[in-house]
Amino acid sequence: MISIKSTEEIKIMREGGRILAGILEKLQKHVRPGVSAKKLDELARELVFSSGAKPSFLDYKPNGRGHGYPAALCVSINDEIVHGLPLENKIIFEGDLVKLDIGVEYKKLHTDATIMIGVGKISSFAKKLMKVTEECLALGIKKIRSGVTLNDYAKAIQTHAEKNEFSVVRDLVGHGVGRSIHEPPQILNYADPRMEKIILKEGMTLALEPMINEGSWEIVLGDDSWTYRTADGKLNGHWEHTVAVTREGCEVLTKL
Ligand code: MF3
Ligand code: CO
Repeated sequence: MISIKSTEEIKIMREGGRILAGILEKLQKHVRPGVSAKKLDELARELVFSSGAKPSFLDYKPNGRGHGYPAALCVSINDEIVHGLPLENKIIFEGDLVKLDIGVEYKKLHTDATIMIGVGKISSFAKKLMKVTEECLALGIKKIRSGVTLNDYAKAIQTHAEKNEFSVVRDLVGHGVGRSIHEPPQILNYADPRMEKIILKEGMTLALEPMINEGSWEIVLGDDSWTYRTADGKLNGHWEHTVAVTREGCEVLTKL
């Protein structure tokens, strides 16, 4: 069942989303050569708690895992796609493509967002991947409105990615969000009959998160059992917003 949020709930998610966007904006400024991912996580925790929210990911157990996620922030660099652990020895270098992914719980409701940052001078293909991934999300968001199916969203993403000779990750998906960090439906970022069956309704709140690879779409899970990376070691792009479906379109909740 896909939950429908009340106007009051969406109002709270709008406040939470704005807090989240503000935190990402502040964190972005600290993404510089020499800084450790752990430092970014520490900052993220301070910012989340001082805003009156709670970190959604800390101790979260996706798919009933035994161990919860050990941080507030996911820091995934270059070929790392999602759930990169913010370790002390994970140092940011000039030329890196850094993805910061964070969720906050504010007044019992969750929002989720990811931004990408190119550190200093980045390669021209990293630049292109970053741009195309952001465009994919923007084009997908444009399709979202009450009455359409999620396949319209998925097709827009896939078409734009493949037109640029990139590929769409198959095995990781976006999701409903709000009363918990992961809710139904699973949101594929490529055209699929399963997406055709999901008709959007006003009040649904979704975490849209295309994951676009420079090379092939295959992924592998790292030895830490958290970090997903590209199987071929090429770059990944990931951008995410939480949106609320409206009659005429959607409202991006995780913007400033
Ligand atoms: N934004 C991440 C996602 O939607 C949530 C990560 S939860 C974690 O997959 F616990 F795995 F970090
Ligand atoms: Co998410």
